[in-house]
Order: sequence, then C-alpha cells, then structure tokens
Amino acid sequence: MRKIKNMTSYIINDNQIYERYDNMIEYRTTVEGLNKNELEGFFVNWQKPLTKKQHYLILKNSSFTVLAYDIEKSKVIGFINALSDGINFAFIPMLEVLPKYKNQGIGSNLMKRMLELLKEIPCIDLTCDKNMQTFYEKFSMLKSHGMVIRKYINKN
Ligand SMILES: CC(C)(COP(=O)(O)OP(=O)(O)OC[C@H]1O[C@@H](n2cnc3c(N)ncnc32)[C@H](O)[C@@H]1OP(=O)(O)O)[C@@H](O)C(=O)NCCC(=O)NCCS
Repeated sequence: MRKIKNMTSYIINDNQIYERYDNMIEYRTTVEGLNKNELEGFFVNWQKPLTKKQHYLILKNSSFTVLAYDIEKSKVIGFINALSDGINFAFIPMLEVLPKYKNQGIGSNLMKRMLELLKEIPCIDLTCDKNMQTFYEKFSMLKSHGMVIRKYINKN
C-alpha cells in the first residue's frame, strides 16, 4: 500500500484506487453506541486472538479508550486503551491499526489523542518490542527496562 504524494485522500492498495478522506475517520473516546461486531480483524498474528466480546469488554473497562472509526464502512479500524489510577500512573496495554489502514498516520493519531487524555498523569508506561521503540520515541517516550508475566509463553 502506498500514499500518492500530496494527495493523502487517495490510497493505492492491491492495484485498486479508493478514496479515503481524512474526515471519514472519526476518533471516539467511548464505546457507547458501539456494536461488538464493529470490532473485526484485530489481534493479527496473536496465537489466540481475543474474541470480539472480550475486545469490547476490554475497551469498555479501560480507564481511557480511543477508537478510530471508519464512518463509511461502519467499523473500528484502530484502537488504543489505557489503564490508570487517575493520579500518578497510566499503562497503555494495546495499540493496533487494521492492516489495510496502516501507514496513514492513524496509529500516531490514536497515540496523540491518548496522550492528550492522559495529560495530567505524570507516569505513562507501555511495553513494546525493541523495533517499536523508535515509533514511541516520536511521542517523547523514553526507553526503559521492565519485567512482565506472560502466562501463555511455553504453553501449548
Ligand atoms: C504500530 C501500529 C499501531 C502503527 O499504526 P499506523 O497507523 O501504521 O501508524 P502510523 O501510520 O502513524 O505510523 C507508522 C510508523 O510506525 C512504524 N511501525 C509500524 N510497525 C512497526 C514495527 N513493527 N516496527 C517498527 N516500526 C513500525 C512504521 O515504520 C511507520 O514509521 P514512519 O512514520 O517513520 O514511517 C500498527 O503498525 C499496528 O497495528 N501494528 C501491529 C500491532 C502493534 O505492534 N502494536 C504496538 C504494540 S506495542
């Protein structure tokens, strides 16, 4: 997929040209009014992708959620969520954009909007693969060390 220079509203994908106006993507900070069937195609390459119901509940139960929604297609095309104590800490567990919509700035927009929602929170953490660090550095995030439990590792 590639964008035509200076014409961000047109995308060439698999030799097909289709219009994609920026204003056809709506950014929402609530799951209110969302049908779980509008959450399709996420958790790419996960060993055991979460169900749409689980995904919906995660977004609903999160302290903060931002959705990128394609108005024309009536579906969520990207999301980010954060868990927070509301005072000092927030953790961003997930950020994902559907494969067909990648590299159009949607992931960055989701991140910017989430950081705006978290602007009063001094400590914001996330874990990511090493190759993603340059992406997050664009948002003034610092490299760090961490420890995690992942119960699915080494389990069939
Ligand atoms: C990461 C992700 C959300 C970015 O969404 P996006 O809409 O394509 O993001 P943008 O268009 O704003 O920015 C794309 C940038 O991310 C970089 N990027 C995306 N995936 C990357 C990866 N695996 N490793 C390194 N950089 C990556 C691109 O190279 C591009 O960099 P550039 O701006 O310097 O050209 C998207 O690629 C995705 O959903 N990935 C799978 C899930 C994931 O890895 N989420 C992050 C969990 S920590």
